[in-house]
Amino acid sequence: MKASIPLLILLHALVVHCLKVVSKRGSVEGCTDWSVDYQKYKVLVGEPVRIKCALFYGYIRANYSHAQSTGLSLMWYKSAVHGDFEEPISFDGARMSKEEDSIWFRPAELDDVGYYSCVLRNSTYCMKVSMSLIVAQNDTDLCYNSKMRFFEKAELSKCKNITCPDIEDFIQPGVEPKIVWYKDCKPKQWRQTIERRRDTLFIKEVREDDIGNYTCEIPFGNFVVRRTTELSVTGKRIFQISPSFPP
Ligand SMILES: *[C@@H]1O[C@H](CO)[C@@H](O)[C@H](O)[C@H]1NC(C)=O
Ligand SMILES: *[C@@H]1O[C@H](CO)[C@@H](O)[C@H](O)[C@H]1NC(C)=O
Ligand SMILES: *[C@@H]1O[C@H](CO)[C@@H](O)[C@H](O)[C@H]1NC(C)=O
Ligand SMILES: *[C@@H]1O[C@H](CO)[C@@H](O)[C@H](O)[C@H]1NC(C)=O
Ligand SMILES: *[C@@H]1O[C@H](CO)[C@@H](O)[C@H](O)[C@H]1NC(C)=O
Repeated sequence: MKASIPLLILLHALVVHCLKVVSKRGSVEGCTDWSVDYQKYKVLVGEPVRIKCALFYGYIRANYSHAQSTGLSLMWYKSAVHGDFEEPISFDGARMSKEEDSIWFRPAELDDVGYYSCVLRNSTYCMKVSMSLIVAQNDTDLCYNSKMRFFEKAELSKCKNITCPDIEDFIQPGVEPKIVWYKDCKPKQWRQTIERRRDTLFIKEVREDDIGNYTCEIPFGNFVVRRTTELSVTGKRIFQISPSFPP
């Protein structure tokens, strides 16, 4: 039975290989790695942004203060490409700071693009997840980047609310946010039937010429945060009989 030894070696190699694949997928240095969170952070250059460690928002039950009180510590790492070498982040405390379960950028710069991993651990427990951050410039002559827009649909002559999205981190509960709305990057005299309420632009009766790109702007410290939503309008088009054909 001379063939059995190479066969055993082969089997052994296969088993080891499989174990390696499993351990590579399941953990990094004994850490349970949840890979990249679905939520992507997208901001314009010069805007503040807060990246929250997603572990506390859907992966584990504990919140940050609870985790901290049980002796777990939270560390942040950055990599340019997901899966690449992850460098521990040194916080200067001014532009980029670690605050509870988050990193704050005041503001974000182009170099900040990348993957941010938070690792929560003690000597026997370790969990990790990464969040991606995209920082981009506005398009030429525009106040937004067309790849970072939100999209809404409205029906002709119905009412429509356009809400300024993703701004929870920049408004205080109970305080009316000072939001300025622009249409196609220009300040606008809104007609009487368009109301601004808190974080919403309320169009009572949508018209065809309401289609366009709506940008809301919120001051935050020395910065502003902008979000742009393209509104498309659907519904019955009112065709006018053209008078260009003589009878
Ligand atoms: C964090 O979790 C603890 C225990 O689960 C809870 O008592 C506490 O209110 C939570 N804190 C926050 C800020 O949500
Ligand atoms: C590490 O944290 C886990 C989860 O909170 C806990 O169950 C475990 O007892 C902790 N281990 C040590 C050594 O503190
Ligand atoms: C585009 O971005 C630059 C740099 O952030 C800014 O100075 C400029 O005002 C922006 N343009 C518009 C039209 O908002
Ligand atoms: C828009 O918001 C207002 C309150 O701000 C609400 O009364 C109204 O029903 C909303 N309309 C739509 C179409 O969501
Ligand atoms: C909204 O913005 C996009 C991208 O900049 C542009 O192609 C489109 O024409 C704009 N819509 C309107 C109605 O101006």
